[in-house]
Amino acid sequence: MSGPWDQRYAGDRYFYGTEPNAFLLEQIGFLPPGGQILCLAEGEGRNAVHLASAGFLVTAMDQSAEGLRKAGDLARSRGVAVDLRRCDLADTWLGRECWDGVVAIFAHLPQEGRRLMHRRVVEALKPGGVVILEAYAPEQVGRGTGGPPDPALTMTPGQLREEFEGLDIDFLQQCERPVLEGEGHTGVGAVVQLRAVRRQAAVRSRWRLRKILGP
Ligand SMILES: C[S@@+](CC[C@H](N)C(=O)[O-])C[C@H]1O[C@@H](n2cnc3c(N)ncnc32)[C@H](O)[C@@H]1O
Repeated sequence: MSGPWDQRYAGDRYFYGTEPNAFLLEQIGFLPPGGQILCLAEGEGRNAVHLASAGFLVTAMDQSAEGLRKAGDLARSRGVAVDLRRCDLADTWLGRECWDGVVAIFAHLPQEGRRLMHRRVVEALKPGGVVILEAYAPEQVGRGTGGPPDPALTMTPGQLREEFEGLDIDFLQQCERPVLEGEGHTGVGAVVQLRAVRRQAAVRSRWRLRKILGP
């Protein structure tokens, strides 16, 4: 076993519980029904398994072998299949126009890796594809109710707007809400929430124009 996340996920209990994230539940109706969904930094699989149970075709990526082992156990216990892939998301190509939805729930990577991951998400969405994201904001650090200890691992609405440039942002806010998810998230938290869609061919034409005309 290696790394802090493997150690955190060791044992039988699910660190963030087995129920899906509340913001994902609120937004799930915006995902194309029955579509192919990629869950980023999915850990022990609570969101991926819920999506699979709701009829989506789900792939979950994470660096933690322990997390993915438990995601597999959870999927089997619910009688659904999830494609589990172990990788470093700071350094993984996510494909081109191949996902109907990307779900990133508390996918806190160091800043440069996160930026690259989010740029790859824009490229990887099919036209009409939707991103749903919730993460802790810098104001969360020090509250003791969960989330990364380092503000550099958190996200602001401004950063998300930049990192998802090329998508239409239909919903973006920072707010406080009770985040009660297992023993990992235990109270009111400062979060950013985003829903964005890749409208038909918008990304490629803007990128091409920028190549021709400059920024
Ligand atoms: C706060 S947990 C969230 C887990 C899951 N999304 C959930 O909400 O239950 C953060 C996850 O990010 C994963 N992670 C962190 N850095 C990563 C990286 N570079 N590549 C892949 N996964 C990473 C960790 O292994 C961990 O499972």
